Amino acid sequence: MSTAERREHAYDLARVRSDFPILARSVHDKPLVYLDNAASSQKPRAVIDAESRVYEECYANVHRGVHELSMKATDAYEGARAVIQRFLGAASSEEIVYTRGTTEAVNLVASTWGRKNVGAGDEILITGLEHHSNIVPWQLLCEEKGAQLRVVPISDAGEVALEAIEKAITPRTRLVSVAHVSNALGTVLPVKRIAALAHAHGALMFVDAAQSVPRMTVDVRDLDCDFLGFSGHKAYGPTGIGALYARAEHLKAMPPYQGGGDMILSVTFEKTTYNDIPYKFEAGTPNIAGAIALGAALDYLTHLGLDRIAAHEDALLAYATEQASKIEGLTLVGTAREKVGVLSFTLEGIHPHDIGTVLDYEGIAIRTGHHCAQPVMDRFGIPATARASFGLYNTFEEIDALVAGIRKVQEMFA
Ligand code: ALA
Repeated sequence: MSTAERREHAYDLARVRSDFPILARSVHDKPLVYLDNAASSQKPRAVIDAESRVYEECYANVHRGVHELSMKATDAYEGARAVIQRFLGAASSEEIVYTRGTTEAVNLVASTWGRKNVGAGDEILITGLEHHSNIVPWQLLCEEKGAQLRVVPISDAGEVALEAIEKAITPRTRLVSVAHVSNALGTVLPVKRIAALAHAHGALMFVDAAQSVPRMTVDVRDLDCDFLGFSGHKAYGPTGIGALYARAEHLKAMPPYQGGGDMILSVTFEKTTYNDIPYKFEAGTPNIAGAIALGAALDYLTHLGLDRIAAHEDALLAYATEQASKIEGLTLVGTAREKVGVLSFTLEGIHPHDIGTVLDYEGIAIRTGHHCAQPVMDRFGIPATARASFGLYNTFEEIDALVAGIRKVQEMFA
């Protein structure tokens, strides 16, 4: 599909933008151009209202009360779990565990499934483009167990060859854990095919879907993964809430993550029996309003259509790449054939932080730094990049503003 055709297939952008109150504000007296969506995205009115409605109309603790408010809050909280289940194509809502986000989803699996199933000499396989949250929890596990963390390298384009993954899987590989979309480079990994490879060799598969869930259809049964984590705040939902999908058979066999209220069936000083899944993994009073508002965010995305969101973002990225490539002295970092959402770049002779600071004065928000992916920066021999990342509400005019801003940076530092 050409850029022009994609534009035609796009949704009513002005109407969509009006759903997001913050987009109407200015920054340093310039209209806000928000291009930091890979870090966190803005929230539509539907999400803001859903969260405040909980506190105004039906707030109480969940799973604990026989009173009206507690039952209403519980229904809404469990209703949101069912929204997540449908959104991810999971077989049952018992396979959806609320977490604080992707990071906690990885840590939960490392601490429970990992501690039980990974031993000395076993291997966990990741790739060179992972976010720190898909590296450090496995390092901690490997240190504790005497296991080995193996890393499949990335190419100059920021791609990971399937053959390299297959070669790196050994009879000792217990788990393959990879990002669906790289937050630093935008590379899309063929996670379905990687899951098939992992399973063919008797390993399980974890998908870090933090960057894919907001921008493409993610179906856990189609991907045939064992575990998948995502964050609400990148998917136009609240901060501090996300979810882990895990096959029911794994959740049933995994020990609890944290101890406390709600994760038990009965407690005596001698013995505790644990609650059914997924509650076994949800100790303590959860982020009730956040979970309900996450349901509203996913409903918003479903209503808009993941296919249309993906087509719009693809068109934005194609246009941004075309425009950025015309800028002398600009080097794109991450040029994978399958790429979404993210334009990472450096400018000759100018530190990324200076790029970010000057753009901020133009009202343009991008992220600069290592993007919680220091090994990616090391791989490219750079300390940092400037990263513009797109969301469903961004416009082609905003990309023009970015390009004009970059030229201004170059003039200032010339
Ligand atoms: N993981 C987030 C990012 O990529 C914070 O910026």
